[in-house]
Amino acid sequence: MPTKSQPKIKRSFQTAKGMRDILPEDQAYWEKIRKVIRNLTRTYGFKRIDTPILEDKDLFVKGIGAYTDIVEKEMYTLRTKGGEKLALRPEFTPAIMRAYLENGLSSLPHPVMLYSLGPIFRYERAQKGRYRQSYQANFEIIGENDPILDAKLIQLFFSISKEIGLKEIITQINSIGCSRCRPAYRRKVVSFYRSRKKQLCVDCQRRLQQNPLRLLDCKESKCMQIAAQAPQTIDYLCEDCNGHFKNVLEYLDELEIPYILNPYLVRGLDYYTKTVFEFWPEEEEGRQIALGGGGRYDNLIKLLGGKDTPSVGFAMGLDRMINLMKAREIKVASKNRPLIFLVQLGELSKKRSLGLFEELRRAGLETASSFSRDTIKSQLRIANKRQARLALILGQKEALDETIIIRDMVSGSQEVVPLAKVVKEVKKRLKNN
Ligand code: HAM
Repeated sequence: MPTKSQPKIKRSFQTAKGMRDILPEDQAYWEKIRKVIRNLTRTYGFKRIDTPILEDKDLFVKGIGAYTDIVEKEMYTLRTKGGEKLALRPEFTPAIMRAYLENGLSSLPHPVMLYSLGPIFRYERAQKGRYRQSYQANFEIIGENDPILDAKLIQLFFSISKEIGLKEIITQINSIGCSRCRPAYRRKVVSFYRSRKKQLCVDCQRRLQQNPLRLLDCKESKCMQIAAQAPQTIDYLCEDCNGHFKNVLEYLDELEIPYILNPYLVRGLDYYTKTVFEFWPEEEEGRQIALGGGGRYDNLIKLLGGKDTPSVGFAMGLDRMINLMKAREIKVASKNRPLIFLVQLGELSKKRSLGLFEELRRAGLETASSFSRDTIKSQLRIANKRQARLALILGQKEALDETIIIRDMVSGSQEVVPLAKVVKEVKKRLKNN
């Protein structure tokens, strides 16, 4: 009988809701996308930065905004034994800005271009494509106002997508103005919605007080119908924001990047100014599974205690990119190097094969073995299953004679060679094939 100090043992455990394992069979997709990102970020001039998963909770409250869904509903927060209030990062941007300020990166030549890869945590309603632990690739260009950078980031998203075989993606884009033009627009939105308050969903009725622009992208159908008549930001932009947006669109035209203007796109984070954008698979528009999103955030660094530092960035949802690759049946080429399978029998051979395995690996040969299997037959069966090109058989006799058998797994022919020459002999055979 379990006592108080001995909790009843659960029969089986499962991942926490909204969390999932990434199994070996899926790793090739993750490898592929990470590799493409690593290569392209180098070409574009980004440097990698890794920040902790846990940060001061208030960093996100202040950075993202107290009345956003992420802060109000979705953050995983905890109090440490020492009394600190921390949060699992629900996104990267405020954390990167903290690191930029804390580590004196502001003294580097600008723009400072940083990218990160890693998990984020949001307590969201779990469903396919929406997880409580998901993975982002995040890109920030800090310290430049030039609209060409907004377009360059969008171009980067498309370059990555193309390299992994994803086409038919569309950019939704909008400008939500700056601290000069937005207050007047905000007032217009509030007065438009005030007379329609009763027709709104409960969330929007509350948002009307705290975060009225979010009413525009509510996905409730009754709210969407009302939003269709609401004033549009684009009509209230100041000259600077208007010019900036026009330039971004011209650059996208020049790059032949597909986009549509979405006047209701405001994004769920408070730090954005001017350009905001999201990327959607063409066929899944409206299903709330954007592949990525971002925009300008010219005031965030100042808000977090730094100098006025206009910046722009975006994040790509890796889980969703991979889901789409699978849905569209995009193959990731597995490494097609010929496999050498090491077969051994008896104690002495087992010992010899340890060093031999290392020697073959160092010579750049893809080697596998099954040290725990006993018979040569069962080991050869595994070699066959793994489509090994050659098997190297080290029996008791061979171990004593310092020789080894090379078996061609396709033709079945075998040859005994001196152990000291095995690497050379293997390479010769692979070359001849
Ligand atoms: P976000 O739109 O919140 O932006 O997230 C970017 C992308 O991350 C989403 O479009 C989606 O693909 C993926 N994502 C977010 N939450 C989940 C989830 N629960 N499950 C699966 N995928 C998810 C940001 O996070 C901003 N920090 C982007 C940014 C960087 N803006 C400026 N710089």
